[in-house]
Amino acid sequence: MAIISKLEAKEILDSRGNPTVQASCRLQDGTIEIASVPSGVSTGKYEAFELRDNDMNRYRGKGVERAVGNINGEISEFLVGKELDQNTLDEALINLDGTKNKQRLGANAILAVSLAFARASAKEKGIPLFKYLANIYFKNENERMYKIPQPVFNTIEGGKHSDSGLSFQEFLLVPQEFENIKIKLEVIKKIFISLKDLLVKDGYEVNLGDEGGFSPKLSSDEKVLEYFNMAISSAGYNADQVKIGLDVAATTFFKDGLYLIKENKLNTREMIEMYKKLCEQYKIISIEDGLNEEDFAGFAEMNKALGQMINIVGDDITVTNIDLIKNAINNKSINTLLIKPNQIGTLSETMQAIRLAKENNIKTFISHRGGETEDTFVADLAVAVGADFIKAGGPTKPERIVKYHRLIEIEELIK
Ligand code: PGA
Ligand code: ZN
Repeated sequence: MAIISKLEAKEILDSRGNPTVQASCRLQDGTIEIASVPSGVSTGKYEAFELRDNDMNRYRGKGVERAVGNINGEISEFLVGKELDQNTLDEALINLDGTKNKQRLGANAILAVSLAFARASAKEKGIPLFKYLANIYFKNENERMYKIPQPVFNTIEGGKHSDSGLSFQEFLLVPQEFENIKIKLEVIKKIFISLKDLLVKDGYEVNLGDEGGFSPKLSSDEKVLEYFNMAISSAGYNADQVKIGLDVAATTFFKDGLYLIKENKLNTREMIEMYKKLCEQYKIISIEDGLNEEDFAGFAEMNKALGQMINIVGDDITVTNIDLIKNAINNKSINTLLIKPNQIGTLSETMQAIRLAKENNIKTFISHRGGETEDTFVADLAVAVGADFIKAGGPTKPERIVKYHRLIEIEELIK
């Protein structure tokens, strides 16, 4: 238990230059820690509510002064002086808000407090954040295993994350067959350099997308996979060592019941057929949001067709929300769950989602967001709960690299 003596928030800018919330939490013994929340760019329909000012004179309406004001005002008044642990804090925040999707106080305000409290509590106890989180997640000490998740690196970007014109949102590389996270980062950086050389040689631009992957105007999504194979081998590796992941974010090109990919219009069956062919030809290990976010039945078909071979990952379809995850489990729609704390708005609910997945043999995949800050909370969270995968972007932008650095640091600590 800890007593909060002061909560303070401010508006900062995220990696895309949009405002977001940073909260600082001071405990009675003087410990202070901060946490910043990220923001999605291709958000799921049922995510917790991100409170923005809608004042068009500031940041085109994206200011978060109201969310900041809620922390400095109502949330502070309610919490300061109370003795809390993580669960009672999160419960208090949920009840104080009183709405189903945290729209009154804002999930961005609530999550910032939840995470800042976690960090301050860990510091007060004199333990690293991942240990504090593991203590909460695993009541049984013997289960705390501190495993570094497999990192998955965004390498080429399309969809809403870049102007490449590619339909799929994220083309990811998965360096599997290497000893540790430090070496995996080195391998990926080497492939990034090879890929850049290949793209430049062929006359493509090498600008970066939101998450630090390249955004070349290649003629098709499949072309990216060809470049991946070339880059992997020209960096001196093979397709068994470095595999491929996709985050299709298919909702973003779903219109009137069909998927619009360049000049083609595909139905659900044809989409699954396309994925099947891609999986036969390339070493793909996961496909995230391969279909529209409300199509639990379509996901189930896809999971049935491909789920034995690859990870069928739910992101927009499940949005870290218990009810939607249960729906996905009951329908057998996914075998892997993407976890983003700000989709649901408190640390406790995030852990509840992870627990539910694990109890049902669903793999867990912790994720950053399109709009990020230098906050590294997701790295500690992934290690604490023993997540299978983590994605934090390409190794080209500081707000992404810090997450990998934190994993390297943790790897040293648990050695
Ligand atoms: P985001 O997208 O921009 O909404 O965070 C990332 C994702 O779809 O995984
Ligand atoms: Zn996604």
